[in-house]
Amino acid sequence: MPKQVLWAGRLKEKPEAEAFAFQASIGVDRRLALDDIAGSRAHAAMLAKQGIIPAAAAAKIDRELGRIASELESGKLVIEDGSHIEDIHSYIEGLLTERLGDAGRMVHAGRSRNDQVALDFRLYLKRVIPELRNELALTAGTLLDRAEEHSGAVMPGYTHLQRAQPVTLGFHLCAWAAALIRDRGRLADALERLDECPLGSGALAGSGLPLERRSVADALGFARISLNAMDAVADRDFALETASAISIAMVHLSRFCEDTAIWASEEFGFISLSESWSTGSSIMPQKKNPDFAELIRGKAGRTTGNLVTLITVLKGLPYAYNKDLQEDKEALFDSIDALRSCLRMFRGMVSQAAFNTGRMKAACTGGFLEATDAAEYLVRKGMPFRTAHETAALVVRDCIEAGERSVAQRSLEKLQSRSKLFAPDVFEALKPLACVKARSLPGGTAPKEVRRQIREMRKLIK
Ligand code: ARG
Repeated sequence: MPKQVLWAGRLKEKPEAEAFAFQASIGVDRRLALDDIAGSRAHAAMLAKQGIIPAAAAAKIDRELGRIASELESGKLVIEDGSHIEDIHSYIEGLLTERLGDAGRMVHAGRSRNDQVALDFRLYLKRVIPELRNELALTAGTLLDRAEEHSGAVMPGYTHLQRAQPVTLGFHLCAWAAALIRDRGRLADALERLDECPLGSGALAGSGLPLERRSVADALGFARISLNAMDAVADRDFALETASAISIAMVHLSRFCEDTAIWASEEFGFISLSESWSTGSSIMPQKKNPDFAELIRGKAGRTTGNLVTLITVLKGLPYAYNKDLQEDKEALFDSIDALRSCLRMFRGMVSQAAFNTGRMKAACTGGFLEATDAAEYLVRKGMPFRTAHETAALVVRDCIEAGERSVAQRSLEKLQSRSKLFAPDVFEALKPLACVKARSLPGGTAPKEVRRQIREMRKLIK
């Protein structure tokens, strides 16, 4: 274990153990170990190519870093959150020096931990964002599978949590999938913008050594090199954008879970979560609780908090690097972990849930969900919409006064007392499935159109 801190030359006194531990970040940034190693290997190769360090030293560095990476991967080497380790950068460099002597001491030429951490964080996100995008695609795919199964199952659509118009379950599930597909796009946008290599920025002002930035960027798979050294080490907007995309996705999951919890209630009874995706109560023997849905909803609070943490850390920071920036990783790592696990849990829960389509269909009668369709029926027969809206409203009032539960329960004579445009075909037109089938515009809830949406969305996540 390396015992020396990197800055021990200038400062004679060492912080006390508790203070050292306070400013250390190894417990958090050790997950960047492999990225840090990849960065150092590319940097050392470039240093040799540019004649800044001997080729033999670079070869040794490369070999040893490769060895350290395998030891970490196999578990032979474990990075403990020890009191003498400051961060992942000093740990890897220290270890290298311990094993190689002078060759190890060469690796940091032309580099600062400021551009190093900016590099490692970006390399890490370049690995992890595609994984999250894949989880989003899989989850959207599960929703689309369930939507296809239920593309013709009518259920009430709600506004203000009041029954509004009949829709299909497939349509509702497609609405969820569409949101996740945008979340996937937002992560791609963030990834595209963060795809620049900051190495060569040094502490803040670049380097006076003849570094060759392009080849390092190419070796590490970056699209571009960063434009300005000070910007590259001072900003964390890329972390903020990623945290924002994640918290939006989590807010989506949270809303889906809110729907799920409501649907799982006795009052709604629209969904039966499988027993393996439910939990019981320690006191009430009958309980079957939608804990997974609730916990996902709860975790959206953390990810929102992490976003606020990050933006608050950045606000008011003077340029360029300040130690405050060390707080960036814990917040974003937490958000990444939360989104990944919530997507996996949500997917499992949804794929095994049973939808009670009978209850959903029954709930389409009784709330006058067909009232808009009654108005549109009259519009199709030539009545101005506002008049049709008033007429349908009066019909609904008549029904309520007569104790009838739907417009279709009225006799034709009584309907015609409100408008002569009502004809025998009105009864067929106001059945829930007919209402749903009529909404066949692109984006609508008609079963055929929902199946088209499913096909289109599947193409987007292929
Ligand atoms: N652990 C630090 C961080 O995460 C690395 C950069 C340290 N740079 C410095 N000048 N103290 O931000």
